[in-house]
Amino acid sequence: MSATSRRKLDHILIALEDEVEGGSSTWFDEVMLIHNAISEVSPREVDTSVNFLGHELRAPIVIAGMTGGHELSLRINRVLAEAAERLGIAIGVGSQRAAIEEPKLIHTYSIVREKAPTTFVIANIGAAQVARDYDIRSILKIIDMVKADALAIHLNLLHEILQPEGQPSFKGLIAKLKDMRSEINVPLLAKETGSGISREAALKLGEVVDAIDIGGAGGTNWALIEYKRALKVENEALAQLSKLLLTWGIPTAVSICEVRDALPAIPLIATGGIRSGLDIAKALALGADLAGVALPLLKKAYREGIEGVIKMLDQMIFELKAIMALVGASTIKELKEASIVISPRLSEWIRCRGLKRFMKYKKLYPDIVI
Ligand SMILES: Cc1cc2nc3c(=O)[nH]c(=O)nc-3n(C[C@H](O)[C@H](O)[C@H](O)COP(=O)(O)O)c2cc1C
Repeated sequence: MSATSRRKLDHILIALEDEVEGGSSTWFDEVMLIHNAISEVSPREVDTSVNFLGHELRAPIVIAGMTGGHELSLRINRVLAEAAERLGIAIGVGSQRAAIEEPKLIHTYSIVREKAPTTFVIANIGAAQVARDYDIRSILKIIDMVKADALAIHLNLLHEILQPEGQPSFKGLIAKLKDMRSEINVPLLAKETGSGISREAALKLGEVVDAIDIGGAGGTNWALIEYKRALKVENEALAQLSKLLLTWGIPTAVSICEVRDALPAIPLIATGGIRSGLDIAKALALGADLAGVALPLLKKAYREGIEGVIKMLDQMIFELKAIMALVGASTIKELKEASIVISPRLSEWIRCRGLKRFMKYKKLYPDIVI
């Protein structure tokens, strides 16, 4: 097994067996949707379909990219892909670096397209690899491997810093993304993996990518995963640094406000700690177009297979429909336009950061808050 494949397996096993959430919060508790006592919308007639990057989805959900590169992930990817196809939602694969290094691993990723022939599939590679050894042929192979509808470049600087095997440098990344975008024929997506995206980063990314997944803090915590790995190999310096950074990052709800302030129209996915239909509804009402779920579905796929994954996603959609009825939204467009109230802590963040365009975008009261 290659070092990349081994490391990926390590991450999955820790995520499956240990507690890897906690330390930070999504801040969805700071956002309130407003109950509509005279809503004439019934959950049964709610339409959850959306169009994302030209593709119709039956619900605004993406199974966020996690696995590939070994036999365990083949099994997990098969289950997740079958669920995505059955439910008409999107799916991403994990970093495809392992298959570029070892082509015999290609099937652990291509199984996703095999099992999800009509699904919106997102290919995936790390920003560190792109920055260091960008090579358009490998990028085209990655896209072709899963016949992808979009390509995600994952921005995981915190994780690269905390892994002993990490490549903690994205030097030259933006220029390479610009070149890449002109050479590929699918949309390019920038995806954080748990530390969120700020307004300033979004403004730069907006010039070189077609869509953003904010990957905010509050869900799977890479500092916690690396803390556990560092303890196992007695790497005291990395254990201490990981512990220090357990609360690092921009919470998911906050990052949506940041990115929407910078880029009011960019297709936006909110991943990071999405655990219920209420989280999805809040993410969309704040300004996301889709919500991404990773860790809980990985666990379900591993422990319960397809039925467990479908049950969890069905429950989230059931909850989303109930919330939509309660706010009086019969479509996702109406949910995105729903009024919200934000708590003093989030208002303070918005005020400190001067997110005036977000205030306008959500029709909040700029004169009171800013
Ligand atoms: C075991 C595991 C492996 C992951 N691998 C990748 C990856 O290869 N590429 C990527 O973009 N994100 C990866 N992620 C990050 C997820 O896509 C997602 O952004 C993150 O886990 C937050 O979502 P969650 O809180 O629902 O887990 C991984 C997550 C987990 C749990």
